[in-house]
Amino acid sequence: MTKEKKKKVFQLVKGMKDILPEDEKYWSAVWEVVENLALKYGFGRIETPVLEMADLFARGTGSTTDIVEKEMYSFVDQAGEKLALRPEGTPGAVRSYIEHGLINLPQPVKLFYFCSMFRHDKPQAGRYRQFSQVGFEVIGDPEPVIDAQLINLAYQIYTSFQLQPSVQVNSIGCLECRPAYEQALKEHFKKDRNKLSEISRERLSKNVMRILDSKEEEDQPSIAKAPQQMDFLCEACQKHFMQVLEYLDDLQVPYFLNSRIVRGLDYYTRTTYELWLGEEEAGRQSSLGGGGRYDGLVELLGGRPTPASGFAIGVERLILQLKEHDLKGKERRKPEVFVAQLGNEARRKALGLYEELFKAGVLPVESFSKSGLKPQLEIADRLKVPYTVILGQKEIIDGTVLLREMSGGIQEVVPFNKIVPEVLRRLGKAEIVYNEKSETR
Ligand code: HAM
Repeated sequence: MTKEKKKKVFQLVKGMKDILPEDEKYWSAVWEVVENLALKYGFGRIETPVLEMADLFARGTGSTTDIVEKEMYSFVDQAGEKLALRPEGTPGAVRSYIEHGLINLPQPVKLFYFCSMFRHDKPQAGRYRQFSQVGFEVIGDPEPVIDAQLINLAYQIYTSFQLQPSVQVNSIGCLECRPAYEQALKEHFKKDRNKLSEISRERLSKNVMRILDSKEEEDQPSIAKAPQQMDFLCEACQKHFMQVLEYLDDLQVPYFLNSRIVRGLDYYTRTTYELWLGEEEAGRQSSLGGGGRYDGLVELLGGRPTPASGFAIGVERLILQLKEHDLKGKERRKPEVFVAQLGNEARRKALGLYEELFKAGVLPVESFSKSGLKPQLEIADRLKVPYTVILGQKEIIDGTVLLREMSGGIQEVVPFNKIVPEVLRRLGKAEIVYNEKSETR
């Protein structure tokens, strides 16, 4: 090995990121909000594998979508299977629903997940190649009230943090009424073909509705004049959409009708929506979350015809917002007592005392690999613990410990068997613990 190779310092793979302890408070806060909302609305957690058959996404998400065509990490494994790192959560959740016969449970089945996704996208702020999504899926119910409840749930994730996203809603119809709209769009955009961007010209033959989603400057005049989906919805789709909007009014979720929310995934039917930061047109990277109804997906993936609806939000994008708005997140509990020890025997006793303190509801902290008292007290100071318990040779012989109040440096001898209640008392926790005990006696 050359000298240079030995020195190589490894770095993150492009588009990946480390989540360091300083960000833990944000991740914990998001998790807490999501878990409480899942409980409030009766969703059960599902965790599917990161690896799935690549075909699951080709068929589910859609083989001509950007996600599958350009962004999916796929490879052939040692057994010759074509696998993919999941780029999104919905196909995996549906596969699992079919595979485990969840259709036999009372319907709908309500699932939520908090998982890593992988897309070989162009990295920038808020856009990564590995990112986390929180997703909520309701499988087995065609009713518009479900869509409205899901939009309300997505909205509440943000409002729980005092963030006010704008909800952009649309209906893209069903397999019955959409072809006529697609035909009308094709005719319209064909006329403007030469003025369209290259990507939109490509979409003209592959997936004409996606042109509506284009951010390219040159596409905007033609998009502004394009036929409106609302004029093509069949009666059933119209009724469904009106009901979704009525329920949103009842739930007091403010929304904007936006005929350009067609979404970049193939499985959507009827209701589609995105949550943005403001009313203005959002670039893809600033869309906080999105979802919609996908009534055909279960059948497409081999199950019985089963209606479904869901959404996912990007956790990193939410956390960027929390930081930008200076929202604090969930602070980690602060350590309350440092357990210091001098000598091997004291260390052995300190190990047990540490466990006892924790069991009693105190958050202890230690540095058992250190042997001198000074470095241990320095750590205790740095961690700003109010108390340190010191166990030395003398204390072991006497069956005592020293309890040091860190602010004034005052130390007191306490019998070893009284130290836990004494710490609890000093921290103002004793009463709670003892009252609870006396109540249960
Ligand atoms: P999606 O719109 O592709 O939908 O992704 C949802 C959210 O994931 C986006 O709004 C964004 O916040 C976040 N996201 C997407 N790509 C990235 C990235 N490269 N870096 C960071 N965040 C990103 C879906 O994935 C559907 N499965 C949603 C759904 C669930 N529909 C029905 N059920």
